[in-house]
Amino acid sequence: MSSEKKVQFRSKLGLIAATVGSAVGLGNIWRFPAEVQAGGGAAFLVIYVICVLLLGIPVMLAEFSLGRAGGTDAIGAFSKVSPKGKQWSWVGGLSVLTAFLILIFYVVVTGWTFEYTWQSLTGDLYAGGHDTAGFSGKMEQYIESGTRPLVFSLVVVALNLCILLGGVTKGIERLSNVLMPMLFVLLLVFCGVSMTLPKATEGLEFFFRPDFSKVTPRVWLSALGQAFFSLSLGMGILITYASYYPRNTKLVRTATTVSLLDMLVAVMMGVIIFPAVVSFGLTGESLKGTALVFVTLPEVFAQLPAGRVWSVLFFLLLSIAALTSTVSIAEVTIRTLQDRLHLSRRAACLWLMCPMFVLSGVCAMSVGPWSGYRIFGKTMFDFLNDITANWMLPIASIGLCIFVGWVAPRTLLRDQLSNHGTLRSRLFRPSLFIIRYLAPVLILLVLIGGL
Ligand code: PHE
Repeated sequence: MSSEKKVQFRSKLGLIAATVGSAVGLGNIWRFPAEVQAGGGAAFLVIYVICVLLLGIPVMLAEFSLGRAGGTDAIGAFSKVSPKGKQWSWVGGLSVLTAFLILIFYVVVTGWTFEYTWQSLTGDLYAGGHDTAGFSGKMEQYIESGTRPLVFSLVVVALNLCILLGGVTKGIERLSNVLMPMLFVLLLVFCGVSMTLPKATEGLEFFFRPDFSKVTPRVWLSALGQAFFSLSLGMGILITYASYYPRNTKLVRTATTVSLLDMLVAVMMGVIIFPAVVSFGLTGESLKGTALVFVTLPEVFAQLPAGRVWSVLFFLLLSIAALTSTVSIAEVTIRTLQDRLHLSRRAACLWLMCPMFVLSGVCAMSVGPWSGYRIFGKTMFDFLNDITANWMLPIASIGLCIFVGWVAPRTLLRDQLSNHGTLRSRLFRPSLFIIRYLAPVLILLVLIGGL
């Protein structure tokens, strides 16, 4: 049996570090700046902050409450918490499946960040032409070549396996305690570097000057989608992590801290990226998607003094952010295997990660040599990305809100937010209102908008 003794995070700081480690990922570092660019600079930022505060935090509280009250995996939590919960376990099941599918391709992307760190170290990244064409060629070579991305994906899976075998406190918590402070230090260093660039002020002006003419309903929907993705909502992660929270953890304070730190990282990324791209005249198309981090930024580094050092540090930062997210999303399935199938931790880790070697490997190849094999007209990579982001995450999040808002006993949220009446919880009523009405409707709009 897996649950002889209740596993818990050992310290408050460790618990925050682990949860922030999950939230801070590629969503903050490369998706956020691209969204800001498309959504009218600070106008998007303002809308994003509203989405996080108004919807993100309450839904996070719903996941935390369910997770801690359940004290088990994301599927079991539903049936534990409410007599009618059994019929709702499918929501947990959907989250776990989503987490599993996301892990497959997120591992591949994490592999790219590792490869870029490695190629910066060896200098190979800067061996060819230092223009857009040169770095695009390199990207093709690194991402689409097949074997190398395959190898780096396998490295990421192996690393995950080692960390997760260590368990929640000795693996996840310890890792986060080391990597999260490192990540913040690196971010601070890069903010500093960015301020020394020739057109730093112009870049900041672009970032902090709102252009509300660019704000369409679409921008609202993408801000909401971005908020949910960035806070790791709907994937069962926070339900699982909260099951490791001690009884006296203050959930409201934890949710606020995690959300603010996650937003802080996103804002810091804006402060880093916009001065850089404006200073080197690299706006527009180059800011979109993968090109931003894998083409545009290397172009910037190539023009900086000691550029290779910055390059190594930046891709290290990216790798850290991505790795701590993969660990959290893998934990969802591991906990489920432990609690549903009564596997030992070791067995659960192996049962998840052995297939992952194959699946992520295939997914890595689907971007390159195997791109001819299509699922509904898409490569495996794009297919997984699309169904999880556009379908599964929104549906799981709506299900969660309906369950916590309407099906579970009202006392669930109240007891959890107030630690069974020992704390005042002014956020209980507004949160319940949002979880019941506002969040499901707005997420439904995101779902429809995504189609
Ligand atoms: N919050 C993460 C991010 O911003 C999302 C995520 C978490 C994705 C865990 C995958 C795994 O990137």
